[in-house]
Amino acid sequence: MTDSPEIIEVDRDRLWSSLEQLARIGAYDDEDAGTVGVRRLALTDEDLAGRRLVLEWFEDAGLSVRYDRMGNVYARRPGLDDRLAPVRIGSHLDTVITGGRFDGALGVLGGLEVVRALNDAGVTTQRPLEIVIFTDEEGVRFETVTLGSSVAAGRIPLEQARALTDRDGVTVGEELDRHGFTDGDPVPAPEPYAYLECHIEQGPVLAAEELQVGLVTGIFAITWKEVVFTGVAAHAGTTPYELRHNAGLAAALVTVALHEMVRSGRYGDMRATAGRVEQQPNATNVVPGSALMTIDMRCSDAGHMAAAQEALDDAIHRAAEEAKVAVSVRVTARTPPVEFDPEVRTALAKSASNLGLSSREMISGAAHDAGEMAAVGPAGMVFVPGLHDGISHNAREWSTPEACADGVAVLLRAACELAGT
Ligand code: GLV
Ligand code: MN
Ligand code: MN
Ligand code: MN
Repeated sequence: MTDSPEIIEVDRDRLWSSLEQLARIGAYDDEDAGTVGVRRLALTDEDLAGRRLVLEWFEDAGLSVRYDRMGNVYARRPGLDDRLAPVRIGSHLDTVITGGRFDGALGVLGGLEVVRALNDAGVTTQRPLEIVIFTDEEGVRFETVTLGSSVAAGRIPLEQARALTDRDGVTVGEELDRHGFTDGDPVPAPEPYAYLECHIEQGPVLAAEELQVGLVTGIFAITWKEVVFTGVAAHAGTTPYELRHNAGLAAALVTVALHEMVRSGRYGDMRATAGRVEQQPNATNVVPGSALMTIDMRCSDAGHMAAAQEALDDAIHRAAEEAKVAVSVRVTARTPPVEFDPEVRTALAKSASNLGLSSREMISGAAHDAGEMAAVGPAGMVFVPGLHDGISHNAREWSTPEACADGVAVLLRAACELAGT
């Protein structure tokens, strides 16, 4: 029996300073946001530079590092009984194009801080601990969300992930080979005893209610579609309306249909977004000849998602008919709603209450690696509040040293309870 977790303290300033140092890698000036953001798209040189810095910290903390063929990194702290399944703590280091410094990084560096705090206290847990960096959580570059963790969970085969391409035609496989991940262990790695993730909320609720942490009950189901309308580029002044094949019109009709679906209330807590619309030739005096749009739909209920998918497919085909264009549709991501494990949730809730932190339960509208991990073992998450109305996927994403340390303190206690001290 070693020291009780009561006396193990998170070092708030060390955690904050690590977040700051990592944020310098991929830092960019965001003129619209009026501040500096972070851009480390998955498997780019910036993403790998970020990992290299964190790997140095892992090694300094005495962790032994291995990676799998998807480039997911597992940094291990042995347990007193090292044959036991590990407790894993993880998240991602890749960001969206307009990223902040907390989304993902807090989960990984929070895991590192758990290890550093245990090292300082001289405490070894019964079970090993593993800090995980999942490859490409954001799905921005290769258009599939939580890619690395879905391969680790066995939901997407490695070969299918390797074949995905970015907009320049570069494949995931080429990037994994370029960065030397091809020599990694086979995936998936063995199932953990439990998986924990600390993440910035990415929404306004905790700050508005002046709460210190969020206890996450589950994650919305997600469907992503890529829709391509193909019409005929033609003169905007001379082409009679009834002779047009206007691909841009079809995309616009689908955007409006999505809005009406959500506003109808028929699909529960559904949120729908047409985040990317690219029409060609994109000129004032030319009827759009083609339009590519991506659609992101999320809600908490599988039945509502199934009904919304049907309604969306109908809307897409009606739009194509109305605009007299051809259409092709591809599903690029589909994840079921996630419910986190009751025991892991209890461990996190107990940690928060023992620390005297105010909290509430909440569901996540954002995807997380914990969602994929929930399919292979007990998993749970804790959220910390963000400032600026919780804005995220924006350079203005922000939190405070106290808030981050609170979330990681919850992580530390729950990890000690689950791994045994
Ligand atoms: C990624 O963070 C997502 O929720 O799409
Ligand atoms: Mn994230
Ligand atoms: Mn994100
Ligand atoms: Mn994400």
